[in-house]
Amino acid sequence: MPKPEIHVFVCNQTRPEGHPRGSCGASGAAQITQMLSEEVAKRNLFTQVAVTATGCLGPCDCGPNLLVYPGSHLYIRVKPEDVSRIVEQHIIGGEPVTELLAPEELW
Ligand code: FES
Repeated sequence: MPKPEIHVFVCNQTRPEGHPRGSCGASGAAQITQMLSEEVAKRNLFTQVAVTATGCLGPCDCGPNLLVYPGSHLYIRVKPEDVSRIVEQHIIGGEPVTELLAPEELW
């Protein structure tokens, strides 16, 4: 398996209903993960980009959250309509979508 140039970790953590921290799983992470995987597949980027569903990344009340390496860029409150832009501008174009990134005080 080739080493991916870009690795996207998507928090898919779930917690019991009513848990005070909430979770990305409850805010639509599965849909974001699926959409990202489809975008990668559509562009045939399998050997360059890895998408991994992961556990908690930290800021649970800001989910769905995803983390892009290299660069440790944390996207928060990702909506379905943000996914293709993140792929086009950041994953392919190399320019992070700054307005969707976590603020300095959070990450
Ligand atoms: S549950 Fe996603 S960051 Fe904690």
